Amino acid sequence: MNILQVKNIKPVTDKSGRRRVTILGSTGSVGCQTIDLIARAPEKYEVVALTARKNIAKLVEQARLLRPELVVIADQSQYRALKDALADTNIAVTAGDKAIEDAAALDSDWVMSAIVGAAGLPATLAAVRRGAVIAFANKETLVCAGPLMMRLAAECGAQLLPVDSEHNAIWQVFDFERREAISRLILTASGGPFRTMTRADMAKVTPQQAVKHPVWSMGAKISVDSATLMNKALEVIEAHFLFHMPPEKIDVLVHPQSVVHSMVEYEDGSVLAQMGTPDMRTPIGYCLAWPKRMQTPAAKLDLAKIGHLSFEAPDPEKFPALRLARDAMKAGGTAPATLNAANEVAVQAFLDGRIGFLDIERINEAALTALSPMPLTDLDVLREADRSARRYAEAQTLSA
Ligand SMILES: NC(=O)c1ccc[n+]([C@@H]2O[C@H](COP(=O)([O-])OP(=O)(O)OC[C@H]3O[C@@H](n4cnc5c(N)ncnc54)[C@H](OP(=O)(O)O)[C@@H]3O)[C@@H](O)[C@H]2O)c1
Repeated sequence: MNILQVKNIKPVTDKSGRRRVTILGSTGSVGCQTIDLIARAPEKYEVVALTARKNIAKLVEQARLLRPELVVIADQSQYRALKDALADTNIAVTAGDKAIEDAAALDSDWVMSAIVGAAGLPATLAAVRRGAVIAFANKETLVCAGPLMMRLAAECGAQLLPVDSEHNAIWQVFDFERREAISRLILTASGGPFRTMTRADMAKVTPQQAVKHPVWSMGAKISVDSATLMNKALEVIEAHFLFHMPPEKIDVLVHPQSVVHSMVEYEDGSVLAQMGTPDMRTPIGYCLAWPKRMQTPAAKLDLAKIGHLSFEAPDPEKFPALRLARDAMKAGGTAPATLNAANEVAVQAFLDGRIGFLDIERINEAALTALSPMPLTDLDVLREADRSARRYAEAQTLSA
């Protein structure tokens, strides 16, 4: 069973009536917003585990606020400092990548998968294997391992609840009983901070400019992805796997105000949209309370005040990322994983000041062209494709 089988919902509250939650990537943008919601309703939620990569200051603050059973830090060199900082509590502390997987495998009612990048794959899979209800923010894992993950989720009875505002919007207006009547998914995109810039100017932008998103406040990697439109490209692949829709039935529409979060078009011409102010706590809250709804601090939508909403087609010359996503889906197998891994390397190199903004798309395209896709038969094949793409992309950063 996965998200798309919304019937037969399994019990999601523990004996005390509180939902027991695990947050993978608790110190990031999505993780912190999840905690913001949980902290507002402590009578409804009990935290089992929190995980981070290296930000122990934030992790300790969250642990003291929420008193989880376990906190995990991926960076083993921080273990002692974390353990000491929580020495006066009964919170268990572990470290390392395997410990994060173990945390995901611990019994809980609900898991937020909000680690950034393919690094989140092992922990997300651990939660899938135990048939968990998983609020799914970590789109890169589905881009890499889509068919494997969807198959495993069905076998293990895991449910994937889409956190991405676009996929969450689609979920809210997708008629699962009559999916054959759906003619198109329309993912909206803000267009990012460089929507109106020339290519010549884009070549000169800095990481500081790229992470300053005009509408959303997010982690560095997804902010750069929004600026290149690679975020939307990854989301098209994510929607393809999550909603079992063919790529040609998934369109992208630029909508700078980010009020319409996405739409589903039906064969009779009806288009259903989900709207709201751009605040991730709305889709996170939808997943956290699911199958109910909850109050969130997101501002209510005032369309009269906003006045007008605008829409435009994405510019394929300025933003080739969407074409690369379609090429990767057409090639199939490990091609989406190759694109994702190359992009992770290129974005990090850009953030580190080692390459220019337009080098990101160049490296992504070069990797996709140079590395032949393999059939995605198992995780070993996926890991090898990921490693090769990272090696290739790193080498390309040196020639930038
Ligand atoms: N931010 C948004 O509004 C938004 C919206 C939709 C979807 N998403 C998706 O949600 C995911 C998280 O995005 P974000 O913006 O919250 O990212 P972020 O702010 O960069 O946070 C990432 C989280 O993952 C942890 N992490 C990073 N690398 C790790 C590793 N190798 N092993 C274990 N943990 C690791 C980080 O720990 P440290 O803090 O210790 O580094 C942090 O807790 C991404 O896949 C993104 O595409 C985000």
